[in-house]
Amino acid sequence: MFFAIALLTSLHTTAANRDSLALTPPMGFMTWNKYKEDINEQLIRQIADKMAADGYAEAGYKYIFIDDAWQGGRDKRNNILPDPEKFPSGMKALADYVHSKGLRLGIYSDAALLTCAGYTASYGFEQQDAKTFAEWGIDYLKYDYCHAPSDSAVAHERYKKMADALQNSGRKIVLGVCEWGQLNPEKWARQAGGSLWRVSFDVRDMWKDIVKQGGMGIIDIINIAEPLYKYAGPGHWLDMDMLVVGLDGKGGPSSDLGGVGCTYTEYQTQMSMWCMFASPLAMSHDILHENEETRRILLNKEIIAINQDALGEVAHRVDVPGKCRVYLRQLSGNRQALAIMNPSDTPQRIQLPLSILGNTKEYNFRDVWEHKTTRQRKTWQGTLQPHETKVFTVTTR
Ligand code: GLA
Repeated sequence: MFFAIALLTSLHTTAANRDSLALTPPMGFMTWNKYKEDINEQLIRQIADKMAADGYAEAGYKYIFIDDAWQGGRDKRNNILPDPEKFPSGMKALADYVHSKGLRLGIYSDAALLTCAGYTASYGFEQQDAKTFAEWGIDYLKYDYCHAPSDSAVAHERYKKMADALQNSGRKIVLGVCEWGQLNPEKWARQAGGSLWRVSFDVRDMWKDIVKQGGMGIIDIINIAEPLYKYAGPGHWLDMDMLVVGLDGKGGPSSDLGGVGCTYTEYQTQMSMWCMFASPLAMSHDILHENEETRRILLNKEIIAINQDALGEVAHRVDVPGKCRVYLRQLSGNRQALAIMNPSDTPQRIQLPLSILGNTKEYNFRDVWEHKTTRQRKTWQGTLQPHETKVFTVTTR
């Protein structure tokens, strides 16, 4: 009995300790969707310059997540190496540069012998690789699950092994669990030491998966995340995968499987719902050649403030009649975030009884996309375009 209690306490302490690594959802830029395997140190430096100079770091996007295809095998002592052609100056120099810009550097590996794209991975080398990442100055590890057994106990064990290795590496390194939600990571990823876990297969630049081959549209991932809200909180987040905002159907992998691009209304819905659900925000568009509309969506400080709210609640759905969906999220300072989404393909009029918010007579509705505040009594009425989401920060008067 004593041992059981001691074990439970220690499990709880480990999870709670690692919660402190990412008390709000990590935000940054991830290389995969746009650049796939075409990455190098020059590109990462350019992205760092852009993020530091052009408002992203200031808005909270602190990480550059280098995804798959950076690896160049192992040396004679089995130390993992970066590809010498892509990263000739080495990862430590690159991390130093990224840090000098006030940013953090993420890297990628896999809990098997090979990564998803077939590069050297970390299974069996967890301690050694974690130590190497720490020496380089890495701040985040996205840890994938390709070529690994489809068994949740094994997955738990493999992720825990890497989390423990990171914990013992001498550096604070956030662990992102990338198992795609197939083995119920909501039940074990936090205990294993992950700060977040992917809930779905890879996001595609589309509203809805029409080919049903494992590619995920925005609405598909919202549907998967919706019932999982209870599992997330400060330090342990639902990772809904990369933002496709601004990819315009020209991204690499996210243009597979019918991903021809979304409308900007749909991109705004993705940003809205990823923030309502407190998902990490990993941009993946052509950040070096972006348009103003993309910046307007990604750099909206009011929606980011909902994503980063200190209470760390995840929105839950409220039943309402009609075709629109309504989501509520409690925010710090006695405020609530309210999202109204029209998932249908036709415009929808909605009359929303404000009793869903409590029993106050009058509310202030701050429209975070229109940047306007209005007074509301009894019902909120409006029309939503197909796939549109409106988000309000609500306070009592
Ligand atoms: C998997 C992951 C993606 C990406 C690729 C890289 O598919 O889910 O996010 O990291 O591997 O190979």
